[in-house]
Amino acid sequence: MQKYSLPAFVFFVLTILKIMKYQWLMILILALTGSGCKSNLEKPKETVVTDPHSFSRPEEVAVRHLSLHLKTDFENKRLSGKVILTIENKTGANQLILDTQKLTIEKTKADNSETSFSLGDNDPYLGQPLSIAINPNTKTVTVYYQTAPDAEALQWLSPEQTSGRRSPFLFTQSEATLARSWIPLQDSPGIRFTYDAEIECPRSLMAVMSAENDTVLHRNGIYHFNMPQPVPSYLMALAVGNLRYQAYDHRCGVYAEPQILDQAYYEFADMPAMIDSASMLYGDYRWGRYDVLVLPPSFPFGGMENPRLTFATPTVIAGDRSLTALIAHELAHSWSGNLVTNATWNDFWLNEGFTTYFESRIMEKIYGKPYADMLAAIADDDLLTTLKDLGSSSPDTRLKMDLKGRNPDDGMSDIAYEKGRLFLTLIEQTVGRKRWDHFLKNYFNTYAFQSMTTEKFRDYLYTNLLSKEDQDKIRTEQWMFEPGLPDNRPLTKSAELDKAAALARDFSDGKPIHTQNLSNWTTHHYLYFLRSLPENLTLEQMIKLDNLFHFNSSRNAEIRNQWLLLCISNHYEPAYSNLEEFLTTVGRRKFLRPLYSALAKTDSGKALALKIYKHARNGYHAVSITTIDQILNYKSATPD
Ligand code: BES
Ligand code: ZN
Repeated sequence: MQKYSLPAFVFFVLTILKIMKYQWLMILILALTGSGCKSNLEKPKETVVTDPHSFSRPEEVAVRHLSLHLKTDFENKRLSGKVILTIENKTGANQLILDTQKLTIEKTKADNSETSFSLGDNDPYLGQPLSIAINPNTKTVTVYYQTAPDAEALQWLSPEQTSGRRSPFLFTQSEATLARSWIPLQDSPGIRFTYDAEIECPRSLMAVMSAENDTVLHRNGIYHFNMPQPVPSYLMALAVGNLRYQAYDHRCGVYAEPQILDQAYYEFADMPAMIDSASMLYGDYRWGRYDVLVLPPSFPFGGMENPRLTFATPTVIAGDRSLTALIAHELAHSWSGNLVTNATWNDFWLNEGFTTYFESRIMEKIYGKPYADMLAAIADDDLLTTLKDLGSSSPDTRLKMDLKGRNPDDGMSDIAYEKGRLFLTLIEQTVGRKRWDHFLKNYFNTYAFQSMTTEKFRDYLYTNLLSKEDQDKIRTEQWMFEPGLPDNRPLTKSAELDKAAALARDFSDGKPIHTQNLSNWTTHHYLYFLRSLPENLTLEQMIKLDNLFHFNSSRNAEIRNQWLLLCISNHYEPAYSNLEEFLTTVGRRKFLRPLYSALAKTDSGKALALKIYKHARNGYHAVSITTIDQILNYKSATPD
C-alpha cells in the first residue's frame, strides 16, 4: 500500500479545514509544520550511515562544497594553503569535526572571523579529529594548513623516478582513508561534495585533478579546477609533473610524460570503444570527459578511478594492448563506485565486485567471450589462492566485511573483487542476462550520486529482481554475509588456457616444444603457461625455458612478475639482477607483495629481499611500504 508523506497529509488536513472555514486552525498548523515540510522536500537524498573509519559527524553538520587553494613545495615536500568548506548545519551544532592525518593546522575561520580549533588524540589508522568552533548560522569554515613531508596520500618523486628524469613529480592516492593526509575534510565515502580548486606549481609543470581539466600547460603555473558533480573524499586527486595530453576524440584522451605519451596513446586506443560499450550496458556516462593519466612506475596500484581522470600504472603498457582490462575496470567505476558508492569500507565489494563484473562485460563486448573467459579463469585461479591463504572460514572472506578498528586496506583482497564478480555472475545466470542488465541499469540510475550498503542493495535486489525461489537457489545471504566460496559458484572454462596448460605439461614431460605455433598467444596464455608449470624445475629446465621463450628479457610486467616468481622458487640466479631491477623500478604493490613474500620463505631469499628493500624502499609509495614492512618484518630503523 502506498504510504503518504507528511506534506501530503498536512495538505489533506488543510483542505478539510478550508472547507470547514477554520482559518485560525489552518494558520496554527502551517506555522507548526510549514517550514519543516519545505526543507524536507529540498534536502538531497542521503543515507547517513555510521562509518567506523571517520571521526566526522555528517548527521550533525555536512560539508557540501570544498574550495581548495594549495601551493606545491617540491623542495620541502609540502602542500600549503587553505580549504574553504561550505557546510550545512543540520542540528544547530557548535562544532564541525573533520578528519586529518599529520596536518599542521595554522588557523581556522568560521565565515570571516577567526575561530578556535583543537586536534584530538592520534589514532594509528584514523589520524586526528579536528574540532572547529562554529555557530548554528555559520555558512563556511576555512582551514589554513600544511601537509607533512610523509603525508601518506602523497608521493613526491625525484626526477630520477620519472621517465624524463629531469622534472620532479607529485601524485596523490586518497582511497581508502588517505585524503585526510592532504585535505582536512569529512573523510567518509558516505559523504559527497562538489569542489573547486586553485593549484600553484612550478611553471614548467602541469597540474591535473579529478575534475574539469583544460589539458594545456599554463605558463604561470596556476591551474583552476571545478568539479560540478558531488563526489566522496576518496576520489579527490591531484598530480603535478611534466605532462602532455593527447586526445582520442572529443570525450577522451591520455596524459603522460612526453617520453611515454606515444606508447601510452597506442596502448589505450580502445578507450572510445570502451566508453561506448559501457554506456550501452548501464546508461549514460555522467561525468563529462574520461581521460587517463599515466603515472611513474612507483604508483602503488594498477589504477585508481579518480572521476574524469583515471590514474594508471605504466606497467600496463605492454606494447600490444594486452593489459588494458585495467582501463575497462577503472572506467566501469564511473558507474559502480563513483555513481553508486560503498557507504563504508565494509561494503567495499559493492565498489569492486560490481566493477570487476562490469569490466568483464566490457571486455566480452569488445574482444569476445573467449578472451573475457580467459581473464575470468585466471582471476578465478587467483581467488582460490587467496581463499587458501586466508583460510575459507576466515571472516575476511565475507563480502560484507567488518573492518572496525583495522586498516581499511586490509579489506583490499580478491574476495571483494572476484568473489563479488562470481556472485553477480551467478545472479546473471539465474535470472538471465536481459533481466539482470535491466535491473543493473535501473540500480545505477536510482541511486546515482548516493551511497549504498550491502543490506540496502540486498533489499533492492529482493524487491526488484529475485523471487524467494531465486534467493534460495542462489543462496544470496550465504554469498553476501558468510565466509568461504559457496559450492554453486559459476565455473569458467577457457579452451585457450587449456592449450597453455597442455604446453606446460609437455614441457615438464620433456616433449619437444614448437614455439612457432604460438604466434597468436597473448600475455594471458604465457601467464597461465608459467603458472601451470611445476613449482620446482631443474636448472636445465629453467635454462631451456628462458632459451625458448626469452622470459628473462620480457618487458611485459605481468610476465616478468610471473617468471621471477618461478625463478625465486627455483633459486635461479641468472635472473636475480632482473629481479633486483624490477623491484627497484616498479612500486606496484600487486607485484611487490608476491615477490617479496616468495623471497621471505627462505633464509637466503630473505637476506636478498632485505638487501634490495633497503635501497628500494625510499622509492615506494607509503601504501606499498606498509605492506612490505610487514612481510619482511622491517623496522625503518634497521641499520644498514
Ligand atoms: N579502487 C581501486 C584501487 C584501490 C582500492 C585503492 C582500495 C585503494 C584502496 C582500483 O579500482 C582497482 O581496483 N585497481 C586494481 C586494478 C584492477 C584492474 C583490478 C589494482 O590497482 O590492482
Ligand atoms: Zn577497482
